[in-house]
Amino acid sequence: MDWGMENRLTRLVRSDGRCLWLPVDHGYFQGPIKKLEKPGATIGPLLDYCDAVFVTRGVLRSCVDPLTARPIILRVSGGSSVAGKDLAHEGITTCMEEAIRLNACAVGISIFVGTEYEHDSLLNLARLVDEGERYGIPVMAVTAVGRELKKRDARYLGLSSRIAAELGARVVKTYYCEKFERVVQGCPVPIVIAGGPKVDTQYEVLEFVHDGIQRGAIGVNLGRNIWQDQHPVAMIRAIQAVIHEDASPERAKAIYDSVKSGVA
Ligand code: 5RP
Repeated sequence: MDWGMENRLTRLVRSDGRCLWLPVDHGYFQGPIKKLEKPGATIGPLLDYCDAVFVTRGVLRSCVDPLTARPIILRVSGGSSVAGKDLAHEGITTCMEEAIRLNACAVGISIFVGTEYEHDSLLNLARLVDEGERYGIPVMAVTAVGRELKKRDARYLGLSSRIAAELGARVVKTYYCEKFERVVQGCPVPIVIAGGPKVDTQYEVLEFVHDGIQRGAIGVNLGRNIWQDQHPVAMIRAIQAVIHEDASPERAKAIYDSVKSGVA
């Protein structure tokens, strides 16, 4: 592996082989959703606890302090919105030169397997990988499901993740699901778990993150279930314990409670 590629991957994944990446890119198709109305205010208190931030160039430039030491994963696909016809109709929105200028450690792109735009999104990924490899920048493929949350099963996510790896993604971001180990086993590159819409309890999140790690994920790229929580710092610290300290969901919930009540 070339030095630049290896160095970027090393900065994104800690020496324990795990990672906690914080996505705040949702505005690129959903607009100012709850708790991301002012991205800077949301990101600021969490920066110290994540291993990287997944963000568009617009929010990066306007809301993230350039003095931060946190690695950046740049969201470089988009072009559709919740108000438009089809969320799957994405293109590449940000060129590799811009990713280099912004000192990105990786770039991220969504693929939409099984949709009308499957072909375009997969070729976009392949082209991005060609450019990323040329400049030593890893590509993270996101197996997006748009509004079709029911698609999140091992068969579909396994198919999408494998295709992403075959096309050259260095890491795949996909959803946790039942029999998640099948997704991991069929994908020859590391997998990080996306969170999806906010779930009812903190324990549920801690449980699926813990289970996903046990079944082979190297970490998470998890947003709403952290920063839409009433106590985002408590939540990120609890998830950090699951990922980097092998904490059980029970232990992590205890960490959440003590940070929330100001004890930790
Ligand atoms: C949107 C994304 C988000 O980064 C992704 O959804 C992860 O965030 P969350 O945990 O809130 O689902 O890729 O397409």
